[in-house]
Amino acid sequence: MTATTPADREATQQAPSQTSPESSPEALKIALLGAGTVGSQVARILTEDAGMLAARVGTRLELAGVFVRNPDGDRDYRLPRELYTTDAEALVDSADIVVELMGGIEPAKTLIERAIAHGSAVVTGNKALLAQSGSELFRAAADAGTQLSFEASVAGAIPILRPLRDSLAGDTVTRVMGIANGTTNYILDQMDSTGATFDDALADAQALGYAEADPTADVEGHDAAAKAAILANLAFHAPFRIDEVHCEGITRITAADNEAASEAGYVIKLLAIAERITARDGTAGAVLRVHPTLLPREHPLAAVRGAFNAVFVEAENAGELMFYGPGAGGAPTASAVMGDVVSIARRLVRGGAGRTHTPKSVVPALPVGEAHTSYMVVLRVADRPGVLASIASSVAEHGVSIVSMRQVPLAEDDLVAEESSEEYTDETPESVLRIITHEAREQDLAATVAALEQLDVVTEVVSVLRVEGN
Ligand code: NDP
Ligand code: HSE
Repeated sequence: MTATTPADREATQQAPSQTSPESSPEALKIALLGAGTVGSQVARILTEDAGMLAARVGTRLELAGVFVRNPDGDRDYRLPRELYTTDAEALVDSADIVVELMGGIEPAKTLIERAIAHGSAVVTGNKALLAQSGSELFRAAADAGTQLSFEASVAGAIPILRPLRDSLAGDTVTRVMGIANGTTNYILDQMDSTGATFDDALADAQALGYAEADPTADVEGHDAAAKAAILANLAFHAPFRIDEVHCEGITRITAADNEAASEAGYVIKLLAIAERITARDGTAGAVLRVHPTLLPREHPLAAVRGAFNAVFVEAENAGELMFYGPGAGGAPTASAVMGDVVSIARRLVRGGAGRTHTPKSVVPALPVGEAHTSYMVVLRVADRPGVLASIASSVAEHGVSIVSMRQVPLAEDDLVAEESSEEYTDETPESVLRIITHEAREQDLAATVAALEQLDVVTEVVSVLRVEGN
């Protein structure tokens, strides 16, 4: 007896002929560009769940071919050899739906433009391309009356873009904040929970298929920045590009930062934040930023482990919403891709023009200096009377107020390490001072830190990390 899957059972119960209108095409041709981590899983679903997909769409989805660099390369899911091709143009021209899962800017952009010009619908997970050239591509798709869908480009399997675009279309979204990169969340989580080194955790994330082809995009925050631009685009109905996102990655996070965070009751996460604010000069706009952030251990985002993602959305009427799920990896991302494919295919069967995202509002991107957040500033200071008072007064002079200050003696290890340094003498005892501030404007905090650096009682500004969710 052969085992049946839920998809087989659904396909049997709901034959395509029951749902297909007379005029349905015999099959819709799908061109797959890329068969790596995600593309291979899309190929698997198209092949193994063909019956279920046909039942849901009303016609068959036929995999017309797969464009790759090396048709004989190893694949996570192997198709018949004749389906692989290096002739992208011919494949694109033969398709009703083009699924781009190569990544990078070129040749992805040119092939997507070609598909649109040809009248084909396009599905992509390519956030780097959309955050750079999305407006141009969306306009081209709208002009051609076709569709460009991209649910997989942000937060892997989590349905976040369609809810922002459709479900919240009658509300005003004020803030989107989340963990939008699986690789960095995996690395930070491994470093925090198992003491793994950065390099080992990154190697694991690559082996598990979470990282970009060039993982610099993950660890330097560029991937999360691209996602922040796409999220802001949908949340605020206005075009944003990656170069409007303030971006700091996780490569400068040290074991000492993790330790300080942990001692103070925080965990470090790479957050992507897009929020509407009014600048000091009265301009209403949005600040987009990606940076390592301290979250209290009890904050819901602090509990997001491994390569999972979570996105908080705040809207005027809906209040606070949270979306959570697998943020990277082949099968989860392929699920989001296939959602777009099925949705487009159903429209092609029914007929009617494609609907493409073309934001109409103007919401200026404001400099990160206008953002408001709390901070943890760690200083090395002289350990003598009056030091705390002089530091507190310098901070206050810049309009920043302090929630807490905690002074701890330098660890013995640090003293030993420092004995070789020129400044250290037994007569100059030092301590570490950890200051948590109330919310302050980023510009004011930067001025405060610059002033602290000049105080003779401050030996070193060890770290400045933003804090959310206090
Ligand atoms: P991979 O690097 O695993 O796969 C890329 C595929 O594209 C390979 O099959 C490769 O061919 C092919 N390819 C790349 N460049 C070319 C080229 N110039 N000519 C022909 N073929 C090319 O990438 P992923 O599957 O991880 O990612 C694909 C896309 O999905 C990217 O945009 C990524 O950002 C996005 N994404 C990825 C997620 C993930 O978890 N991995 C999650 C969400 C989105 P060959 O195999 O022959 O080298
Ligand atoms: N490299 C990306 C990540 C893939 O780690 O989140 C999912 O977009």
